[in-house]
Amino acid sequence: MTVTTVKPELREIVHNILVNNRRDFGGHQYTVPSPESYPYQWFWDSCFHAIILTHFELDDAKKELRSLVTKQFENGLIPHIIYWEKNSILDLDWGVDGTSTLIQPPIIAYALYRIYEKDGDKKFLEEMYPSLVRYYRYLITRNSRENNLVNIINPDESGEDNSPRFDLPLAIAPKHSVEEHNMKRFSLFEENKKCEFDSDCMQKHFWVKDVAINTYMVENLEIMAKIAEELSRKEDAEFFRAKNELLKSDMRSIMFEDGVYWNSLGVEFEKIKVKTWAIFAPLVAGLYTKEEALLIVKKYLKDGKEFDSKYSLPTVSLSEESYSPDESNWGQAWEHPNWRGPVWMASNWFVYRGLKKYGFDEEAEKLRKISLNLIEKEGCREYYHPETGKGMGAQSFTWAGLVLDME
Ligand code: GLC
Repeated sequence: MTVTTVKPELREIVHNILVNNRRDFGGHQYTVPSPESYPYQWFWDSCFHAIILTHFELDDAKKELRSLVTKQFENGLIPHIIYWEKNSILDLDWGVDGTSTLIQPPIIAYALYRIYEKDGDKKFLEEMYPSLVRYYRYLITRNSRENNLVNIINPDESGEDNSPRFDLPLAIAPKHSVEEHNMKRFSLFEENKKCEFDSDCMQKHFWVKDVAINTYMVENLEIMAKIAEELSRKEDAEFFRAKNELLKSDMRSIMFEDGVYWNSLGVEFEKIKVKTWAIFAPLVAGLYTKEEALLIVKKYLKDGKEFDSKYSLPTVSLSEESYSPDESNWGQAWEHPNWRGPVWMASNWFVYRGLKKYGFDEEAEKLRKISLNLIEKEGCREYYHPETGKGMGAQSFTWAGLVLDME
């Protein structure tokens, strides 16, 4: 198998974007995902930045995580947006000052551990540890009491705001306009506010057990146990490991059907069988057996009618009615397809890691080659068209740089 090498120019392009998008506010260093479109600090974006920065400067990776935890809430939640310097973009009222009140994919333990693996800096691990313990303990309480699955109270918490995985809970048709989607999200946001973003209160409005979120939890609880061990916190390590086992077993009994893990809705656990890239997400946490993984790869990854598009990996299967990867002018509004088909470097990166974990080296290398090709051809964009490869969405987008971490 020939492995494509990364051109030095590409490393430089990624690095330049990270440096140009870097901001400093009152001694807090952070990186904005895209200056024009996303001028604040976002949670999972910052984790991605830290991971990419492990290929450049560890000190900057540490600063990124440090600023991220400074706005942690009393209850342990780390908000998904920090408005260090607020302007008119996304000027929403979240009921608190200076931050949002939602979570985003909980991958901070993974990001921290990646830094630690590079330099073995136990002092930094110690420094971050209390925040992370409070954060993951908070997430553990976001369950349905009778099981261990983490629930989300708004699609934005998944990081994939308009993914069709959330159409059913939002009661929206597979084909709709951006305005319709925004209206739905806006009225949900009003419920979130009335509930003061309390998860117990939100059960009636939006209460989704998302496959990707719960997979990230599994991977990150495992890492929390490892970090606890490194720091000789034996009891904590046992706690995180035990919680993780319970979570894995509930994922299997509640989400798994027809060989796939599906999102599940409400207190009744209705399965949402929409085929998105999240079918592959559990690979990263080793949740499929070897045989199940083989089937998933054959049936979905390598099927041209499902996810094997020319520029894979589409975030939604080509066979889904909701698959709409085009950016277009619709009525008054500019249509942003976002998570309804386009290829994102983050999902490619997760799937790449999952494939490697199971030894699907050829398939992983193919995905990596396509990813490198997309960036060489179109630059660092928010997402790409799965059939034409055209770059779309935000410009100078930082986490396209995750391609450097596919290795
Ligand atoms: C979009 C993405 C979300 C990301 C944010 C900032 O809303 O859907 O995942 O965190 O932009 O980049």
